[in-house]
Amino acid sequence: MKCALVTGGSRGIGKAICKKLAEDSDYHILINYNSNKEAALDTLKQVEELGNTGEIIQFDVANADAVKNALDTWIDANEGSIIEVLVNNAGITKDGLFMWMPAEDWHSVINTSLNGFYNVTNHLIQKMLSNRYGRIINMVSVSGVKGTPGQTNYSAAKGAIVAATKALAQEVAKRKITVNAVAPGFINSDMTAELDEKELKRMIPVNRFGEAEEVADLVSFLASKKSSYITGEVININGGIYS
Ligand SMILES: NC(=O)c1ccc[n+]([C@@H]2O[C@H](COP(=O)([O-])OP(=O)(O)OC[C@H]3O[C@@H](n4cnc5c(N)ncnc54)[C@H](OP(=O)(O)O)[C@@H]3O)[C@@H](O)[C@H]2O)c1
Repeated sequence: MKCALVTGGSRGIGKAICKKLAEDSDYHILINYNSNKEAALDTLKQVEELGNTGEIIQFDVANADAVKNALDTWIDANEGSIIEVLVNNAGITKDGLFMWMPAEDWHSVINTSLNGFYNVTNHLIQKMLSNRYGRIINMVSVSGVKGTPGQTNYSAAKGAIVAATKALAQEVAKRKITVNAVAPGFINSDMTAELDEKELKRMIPVNRFGEAEEVADLVSFLASKKSSYITGEVININGGIYS
């Protein structure tokens, strides 16, 4: 069985990606979540309604032992299956001006958004290399490309993944594994629910926030065979914000 794992697949952009992959591919969808089981089950229901199969898989991407345990348990129970597509989407924000940023807010964002990428990808990469085919898509942000005031922690985490994407892409390209990053601007989701769209949209040439489905379309393309010659790229999807 060929599978696509989407971290943070329970809500927002991750949920839209699970649904789009269910629509566009034959991959069995592994829907990761951290705490929101109900939302993950709802994603699964929608994947199944689209005529595909999937399952939910709980782990905190920031917890290396939890990632290892959950993935090893899954791998043992699914011998012969391969995770061919990995979408590193789970991420959190803890915004605030750097001069007042407590260490906890720095470390929790780095642990989830950056170390989460390491924990999951490092654990799966050997099998992907033996498979001699794979797709790794990292959800970054406009903040990781241009930097956003009030988000020094988040910008650092996402910027580091941009660099990791470029480095890893070169390491694994010969085995037909592509590694790309997708950098959204403002996308409607729980993460941006508190933001004032009316005010902020003035900075966006397209004059609106984006939808999770628009990001999912791009991810689905990158997850497909059609994107074979694109690797080590950071693709901005932000309605024209200069980045
Ligand atoms: N929305 C935007 O405007 C925007 C812009 C640029 C980049 N992004 C990036 O896009 C990604 C998705 O954002 P979103 O807007 O969809 O966020 P969201 O609506 O807040 O959803 C976050 C998802 O990540 C999961 N998650 C959070 N921490 C996790 C952890 N430690 N382990 C496993 N799963 C975890 C959540 O699972 P639970 O449901 O279990 O909590 C949820 O499914 C993030 O990486 C974010 O940085 C978003």
